[in-house]
Amino acid sequence: MGQERDPQRAERAIRHRPRRLRTSPVMRAMVAETAVAPRQLVLPVFVAEGLAEPRPISSMPGVVQHSMDTLRKAAVAAAQAGLAGVMLFGVPAHKDAQGSGAVDPDGILTRAITAVRSEVGDDLLVMTDVCLDEFTDHGHCGVLTPSGAVDNDATVEIYAQMAVLHAESGAHVVAPSGMMDGQVGAIREALDAAGWLDTTVLAYAAKFASAFYSPFREAVGSSLQGDRKTYQQDGGNVREALREVALDLAEGADIVMVKPALAYLDVIRAVAEAVDVPVAAYNISGEYAMVEAAAAHGWINREPAIAETLTSIRRAGADIVLTYWAQEWAERYHQGT
Ligand code: PBG
Repeated sequence: MGQERDPQRAERAIRHRPRRLRTSPVMRAMVAETAVAPRQLVLPVFVAEGLAEPRPISSMPGVVQHSMDTLRKAAVAAAQAGLAGVMLFGVPAHKDAQGSGAVDPDGILTRAITAVRSEVGDDLLVMTDVCLDEFTDHGHCGVLTPSGAVDNDATVEIYAQMAVLHAESGAHVVAPSGMMDGQVGAIREALDAAGWLDTTVLAYAAKFASAFYSPFREAVGSSLQGDRKTYQQDGGNVREALREVALDLAEGADIVMVKPALAYLDVIRAVAEAVDVPVAAYNISGEYAMVEAAAAHGWINREPAIAETLTSIRRAGADIVLTYWAQEWAERYHQGT
């Protein structure tokens, strides 16, 4: 045969040709195993007290602290785009050691919940972050003991009050994010006692102490000194994550969340295989900022990077993804690109 190649023989030698399923966009779309649909996405939104205009967050290009007015518009747009919900974060004008703004019926978050719910009714899920860090002057997720430690049990009582206040204001879903022991049980009990049997608890169940939260701390004007390592988990621990998830389910969580997402895709997978409830994952501020910053430098191609990021989180096993790209993704998705 010499150097001559026999086409017949080459075909026989390579019996399996997976590339056939990659030949065109239509073929690739047909065989795609993982979809990212707007109905599976939740948009985190920030609203700051006393703003007349939205205020940009420098470390999260494209994300703002909303005024009450632009928050309403963002919620309506989210509903129109077919998103599952918005996760509301309130930034009060004044913070104190007790985080008293968090349980103020006239506080920023409470007013935001009422405003958003009145705009969207039941067309969009109104979700709320139940935590004290946006409201405390020391920036911790709970109140402190005289020696400066985070007081678990006193904090849990405040979370329970917050959750009821959120439900009364119109929240469909409350999401405790402070990683206090017993927080889900206390919230479920308080909601039930107040008659809010249908208010859903999305537990930030496995939440890791992470360097990737930094831009969020700018977003909520956090004054945290130190770290959250006495309550948020150590990054290496997957067995402990499964324990946290099991405890939250035993306490009545309806949905469990893993956070952050990208450095914890294996934890999302482990949780998805272990539970029989929906699993959420939070594509957090630092994950957003990394892609945006690299794209702004021209170092990566932004839109494919966003698509790959969201796909990876869904592929890992998350049914629901919280992401700052939710609105953009949903609008692009509907245009069919
Ligand atoms: C706590 C809370 C945080 C985030 C969501 N809820 C901050 C933290 O735990 O330090 C982070 C979200 C993000 O980084 O995008 N209220």
